[in-house]
Amino acid sequence: AVDLRERSFLKELDFTPDELGFLLRLSSELKAARHAGAERPRLRGRNIALIFEKTSTRTRCAFEVAAHDQGAHTTYLDPAGTQLGHKESVADTARVLGRMYDGIEYRGSRQAHAEELAALSGVPVWNGLTDEWHPTQTLADMLTMREHAGRPLREVSFAYLGDARNNMGHSLLVTGAMFGMDTRVVAPRALWPDPESVLGPAERVAAGTGATITVTDDVNKGVKGVDFLYTDVWVSMGEPAEVWDERIKLLLPYQVNEAVVKATGNPSVKFMHCLPAFHDRGTEVGREIYDRTGLDALEVTDEVFESPRSIVFDQAANRLHTIKAIMVATLGD
Ligand code: CP
Ligand code: NVA
Repeated sequence: AVDLRERSFLKELDFTPDELGFLLRLSSELKAARHAGAERPRLRGRNIALIFEKTSTRTRCAFEVAAHDQGAHTTYLDPAGTQLGHKESVADTARVLGRMYDGIEYRGSRQAHAEELAALSGVPVWNGLTDEWHPTQTLADMLTMREHAGRPLREVSFAYLGDARNNMGHSLLVTGAMFGMDTRVVAPRALWPDPESVLGPAERVAAGTGATITVTDDVNKGVKGVDFLYTDVWVSMGEPAEVWDERIKLLLPYQVNEAVVKATGNPSVKFMHCLPAFHDRGTEVGREIYDRTGLDALEVTDEVFESPRSIVFDQAANRLHTIKAIMVATLGD
């Protein structure tokens, strides 16, 4: 039997396929219980700290609502209003928070900081996104794919198009391998995942689960026959604005548009994005980029994003249930 009590959730590679499968089943159970109004609180009296060194909508809200549903209390820590980062190290913060809280969520740039928090706080730490990994997102993505495909994930294929060296590129590749999926990374060579720290480990996982991993710069070949097309922003949080021009040059051929949808040859292919997406010109960042570049779409066209094949808001909704499962499994009664 799988027992994840007192474990941290820092990256997918720390877990076995069985353990991740267990979290996915628990997510489904918790989702069904919530919808039936039959949720049993298993985090009653727990105190949870939520550290966000980068901004968030989905992850923060999912942690807060999941904790409250389960009877726990949360404290939101905004680095601008705390000592962390300017006046106090992660190591000291870890030892303070570990004496007050039962669990800690951490979102920031450095994976090493998440690891350090876990090592020194003595309580479970959950990675709410670093530059390297976004493991709570991919668990929600797996749940979403399973629900929409209606069959086991080992019979499901997806292609991730875009920046395959970012957190989503890394996490999707490893998680696809863990669940035995037909996993495709479709990106220009300059943005392929690092062979040593990401691709190699993913391939070793795949050898055990029967997953197929394809890394290609050929869009038509990469997307052929897939069930799901997935993309992410071309410039991630914390990257300098200067990289935009270079990324656009590299990634425009990997934009998810109607031509790419057609190239799958699958009329019921679904579109996924972890969000936020840069498809919206109405936002502050969107206006700046679209005005400067004169483009009418970046990583995804409105036509695809707003189409019935887009399941991006189902993914967002599943953040709640999967994050809840992670907290319950590691900290629950
Ligand atoms: N997908 C995701 O992590 O969204 P937020 O940045 O809004 O948390
Ligand atoms: N790659 C994106 C993911 C956001 C959820 C970023 O890090 O900004």
